[in-house]
Amino acid sequence: MRGVVGMFLFLLISIYFSSCDQKNKTNKYGHLDLRTKIRLRQYMVEGKRLYSLHCANCHQADGAGLARLYPPLKNSDYLISNRRESIYGMRHGQKGEIIVNGVSFNQEMPGIINLTDLEIAEIATYVYTEFADTVQIITLNEVRTIIDSCMQDSIEIPNKKP
Ligand code: HEC
Repeated sequence: MRGVVGMFLFLLISIYFSSCDQKNKTNKYGHLDLRTKIRLRQYMVEGKRLYSLHCANCHQADGAGLARLYPPLKNSDYLISNRRESIYGMRHGQKGEIIVNGVSFNQEMPGIINLTDLEIAEIATYVYTEFADTVQIITLNEVRTIIDSCMQDSIEIPNKKP
């Protein structure tokens, strides 16, 4: 039964993407193969939901941030050039001065310790694809490598792993 439902969903999503492609061949998803598009779509839907739940109260739904308090994610140069720190910070938090698009921020961001690796992959995929305007699936493997790595040398981590 689950297989049938899964198949049906797969078909629906395939139809959704192929009809979109015909309408707009120059969209930013145009170059992806169908399998990747479907995976991206699943990550984006979950990522958006989790972002609204865990991140939007500070960074805002549109990623614009809030004055000097919360840095923007939308078109953030920090996000692009500090991928490891940005992903690591979602679970473990981040503090110390950072410069985002030429503006200094220095407030502690609390980590969200109970986010699973998959949830972080989904949020990161949403943030990088929606706000950095590039198509990027952040895979579970990449998240695991980053989260398990020892990054104490490069950033201050308020919620160090035991
Ligand atoms: C309580 C408010 C708060 C919440 C909730 C929060 N952040 Fe942050 N975030 C901050 C602050 C403050 C900084 C700046 C940290 C510093 O000064 O070192 C920051 C920095 C960042 C940065 C690096 C700077 C940039 O703008 O590119 C990223 C990426 C980021 N947050 C993503 C997230 C994501 C994704 C979530 C949800 C999982 C989240 N944050 C939840 C407050 C928050």
